[in-house]
Amino acid sequence: MAKRGSSPTTGTSQAGTATASTATASTATAGPDALVTERAGELRALIDYHNERYHSLDAPEIPDADFDALVRELQALEADYPELITPESPTQRVGSAPSATFAPVTHAMPMMSLDNAFSRPELEAWAERVARGLDLGDAAAPVGYLCELKIDGVACSLHYEQGRLVLAATRGNGRVGEDITANVAGIGVIPTRLSGSPPPVLEVRGEIYMPLATFAALNEAQEAAGLPRYANPRNTAAGSLRQKDPAITASRGLAFWSYGLGVVEGGPHLESQGSMLAWLASMGLPVNPELRPVATIDEVVAFTDHWMEHRHDLAYEIDGAVVKVDRLARQRSLGSTAKAPRWAIAYKFPPEERTTKLLDIQVSIGRTGKATPFAVLEPVFVGGSTVQLATLHNSDQVALKNVRPGDTVVVRKAGDVIPEVLGPVLTERPADSVEWLFPANCPACHHELVRPEGEAHTFCVNPGCPAQRQTRIEHFASRGGMDIEGMGESRVALFLAEGLIGDAGDIYAINWDRVAQLEGFGQLSIDNLRAAIEASKHRPLANLLVGLGIRHLGPTGAEALARSFADIDALGAASEEELAAIDGVGPTIARSVASWFASDDAAVLIAKFKVAGVNLEGAEPSDQPQVLAGMTVVVTGTLDGFSRDGAEDAIKVRGGKSPGSVSKKTTAVVVGAEPGASKLTKAQDLGVPVLDEAAFVHLLETGELPTPPPAPEVEGEADPST
Ligand code: IVH
Repeated sequence: MAKRGSSPTTGTSQAGTATASTATASTATAGPDALVTERAGELRALIDYHNERYHSLDAPEIPDADFDALVRELQALEADYPELITPESPTQRVGSAPSATFAPVTHAMPMMSLDNAFSRPELEAWAERVARGLDLGDAAAPVGYLCELKIDGVACSLHYEQGRLVLAATRGNGRVGEDITANVAGIGVIPTRLSGSPPPVLEVRGEIYMPLATFAALNEAQEAAGLPRYANPRNTAAGSLRQKDPAITASRGLAFWSYGLGVVEGGPHLESQGSMLAWLASMGLPVNPELRPVATIDEVVAFTDHWMEHRHDLAYEIDGAVVKVDRLARQRSLGSTAKAPRWAIAYKFPPEERTTKLLDIQVSIGRTGKATPFAVLEPVFVGGSTVQLATLHNSDQVALKNVRPGDTVVVRKAGDVIPEVLGPVLTERPADSVEWLFPANCPACHHELVRPEGEAHTFCVNPGCPAQRQTRIEHFASRGGMDIEGMGESRVALFLAEGLIGDAGDIYAINWDRVAQLEGFGQLSIDNLRAAIEASKHRPLANLLVGLGIRHLGPTGAEALARSFADIDALGAASEEELAAIDGVGPTIARSVASWFASDDAAVLIAKFKVAGVNLEGAEPSDQPQVLAGMTVVVTGTLDGFSRDGAEDAIKVRGGKSPGSVSKKTTAVVVGAEPGASKLTKAQDLGVPVLDEAAFVHLLETGELPTPPPAPEVEGEADPST
């Protein structure tokens, strides 16, 4: 995310900027007309307002991309009409004034911002200015850059005296920040005493951030408490830092990466940014390992392209790269403008948050009858794809997010994560907007919707509801269920509409002569679909149980049930207590399974499956010793001796669980060739043991984890600049 108050180097560049500036360029020699002057004033007020919301209130209302567009528009106007520039203009300042909550701290050396580049030409223009500024003579002489990640957090200055942390301050307006020492002292990764040989005075600057795993856990807790989710890790880190009670900050799991120096007295002579960071690391300060010294802009672009693609493999958020002239003597000779150093530039990634119009809020009905509200959006390109629909989860979430049809809303789409509506831009709410109310009736069958006591969700309880039938049958045929290829949404809808099926059991008694008369069904597609349906009859019972869509029953519980009973009749005859006693099946699943088997639907479906010859036999109980009982082992990457499914089966038959993601509950992560980087980093972050294939085989045989190696010595850490 952009640091509010920062501005691009190339003030006259129009790339990606908003409206007014281009329209006024032709009148540049004539001086600004009233409209232009008015727009400049409006932009200043808007930028000040959003700066205040971002820096002082930690409650930004618009995404950074929109904020950057406002700054660029004002800069372009000021470039066309320099008489519009005032010392108070936000283009001339960094950040916003400090708030009254924390004591003010005057920075001995101002904490500057960075100029931004949004495209390769802008980056090249910066490199040319650097080369000119250094006057290297030989045009081919490499400048030498250090590429760093641009951490999306909160800038912080740490003062050490004789190696002890004596003061920590925010950036504030760049000259005066806030004293947040008590809060920073509780951030585990920030040393309160430096190791190695610290100089008498050392001011380290860097970014405080919230790791993604911490952010996710915090939001889980919020949701469990019925509270609104936090919007993003950056704002949550900022909010956590400003707590009056340092214990709350300490509980938030914040982290820090160092990226530069302020005032320093003593210490070694340092040649380069890279050696400076290595020195900081040698004293126990966290330095981000993803550094790359490069010679050319092509290599800079390769670095930024790589991280643009892999940004979500990291355990924290970044919003770009920072490119710095590596040699410190050259940095000094280039110096700074009033706001930003000339020797560095932030190369910003395309935004993952955007604003768009919320056209409508509609409700969809799932297979259990769950009524889920979702946002219908004016299509917006964000986070690499066009987003038009986004879930709003349930009626409480709509109320907490305070969104209404007609609102301008902030939409976030980060990597593979499903798009999310974060909230409205209240200043743009239409005067005639009205609160959205959850509908009283099902949009598909018009039956009354019911919200059970104590439940967050609302349901259509009409078992004959066509929307439920559709999604139930789709789910039955889906990959996690009976995996019937070719039986997707549109065919299920067609077969239902034609009266060829009414429930999942009817899939096995389709009248194919009638299908042959339907438009779009040639002999080949009929043969393929029949073969897929036939093959599904032989799937394990666990797939059938998952396919039935029994509430709360997922693949792990279904496998446990299939292993525990000879067949579906034995399972159906079991009492709730017997079910709950099975490892992997709790009381909630047991109640839900028992009540499904007691329903009329169950009797009808099971009868149809029997007639069709669908496999209803349970799985052979495992004859392996249950050495992994109670353990959760995640597999990532390719192993030599096991396929992925084979490795997971080997874990499960020994009583273990093998889910697809790493969490605090994970016992170990098995890593093969080309592992998923996010699983690996998450395991490392959470301190979960990482096993190679040999250790995995040992674990399968004995249930034992290898003994951990002794902790590495801080002094012996590799030079992070290499
Ligand atoms: S160097 C003179 N390096 O981005 C300013 N800043 O948008 C020196 N940031 O204020 C800043 N990662 O808070 C630098 N590797 C990095 C950074 C970084 C994040 C932040 C920093 C800065 C803001 C500018």
